[in-house]
Amino acid sequence: MKIGSTRLSGNLFLAPMADVTNLAFRLLCKEHGADFTCTEMINADALVNENRKSVLKGLSCPEEGAFGVQLVGNKPETLRDAALFVEEEYRPALIDVNLGCPVRRIRATGCGSALLEQPERVYEIIKELSDCLGERTPISAKIRLLGSEKKTLEIARLVEKAGASALTVHGRTAAQMYSGKSNPGPIKAIKEELSIPVIANGDIKEEKSAAEILEFTGCDGLMIGRAAMGNPFIFRRIRHYLKTGEELQTGEAREKGEEPDTREELQAGDFRNRQFRDFEAYVGLLKKYDLLDSINLRIHAQWFTKGMQGSRQIRERINNLKDSESIIELMKALSEDSHIKF
Ligand SMILES: Cc1cc2nc3c(=O)[nH]c(=O)nc-3n(C[C@H](O)[C@H](O)[C@H](O)COP(=O)(O)O)c2cc1C
Repeated sequence: MKIGSTRLSGNLFLAPMADVTNLAFRLLCKEHGADFTCTEMINADALVNENRKSVLKGLSCPEEGAFGVQLVGNKPETLRDAALFVEEEYRPALIDVNLGCPVRRIRATGCGSALLEQPERVYEIIKELSDCLGERTPISAKIRLLGSEKKTLEIARLVEKAGASALTVHGRTAAQMYSGKSNPGPIKAIKEELSIPVIANGDIKEEKSAAEILEFTGCDGLMIGRAAMGNPFIFRRIRHYLKTGEELQTGEAREKGEEPDTREELQAGDFRNRQFRDFEAYVGLLKKYDLLDSINLRIHAQWFTKGMQGSRQIRERINNLKDSESIIELMKALSEDSHIKF
């Protein structure tokens, strides 16, 4: 698929997630088949007014390939200045505007999903960014649903009219936060209305939900968030399923040099091996890009052990550890404990 003049390798997007999608994690997702990655939201005011170096520390690297930077803010000029700075420094393939964050702290400053209640401001922001950068760097927006489909469609149309090159839609309202089900109906309606690429987001958990949402909405791309936390391998699984209509099977996966990930293997321990191996690779990347001290490794390690046999006990053991090195050592010891070596 193409966004503006940028051709992507495919249509699987990693969702921007604060405190999750740092550079190391994004690189791991790319390795496992994500076609496009995006930074977590970066506050445009902080970028313009504070120490840019610290705000942008480890933002991206040439190995990341096509990636987007997401900005959060509510003043067209500040967002423009922040975008120009990011463009100059990092040459992202896309600059995305956060119009969906439901967190009270963000809404209180008139940003994120609070902007959805101000359509004129949304238009001004996207227009300013598109006029100043659009020729070189496409602009996109990420929205949530509004109370009615009519209102949601109005915002979507406005974003397109203002010059955006793509739109991501999370099928929940801001009031829902992350509860209830994501509703793909309005996403489908938006896709039918707009000419720019539309990316569907919300509750893509595994192969089947990915295929169903893609087929039902007719969207150009799929964006995966929480299901990728501690599980970057999900991109490989979904990619394989969308291509072949089949889930990765043990023998087949091994032949292709891919790791197995079926329920039986989960019991057999292969799954466990893969999760530990991904964690090891993740730590390697965090160290390489000097990011280990900027994240809460305890939480990240827990995500990587999700679904494993004994995960509750592992979580407790991780919780009792004081520093990153002890967590890394424990994860290594646990991986060596597994009866299948890698
Ligand atoms: C921990 C966390 C942090 C998030 N941070 C952001 C963010 O910085 N920007 C954004 O647009 N959405 C953010 N989101 C929302 C996700 O991008 C995505 O829209 C949402 O999780 C729904 O997709 P999913 O069902 O695949 O998780 C965040 C979600 C989570 C769980």
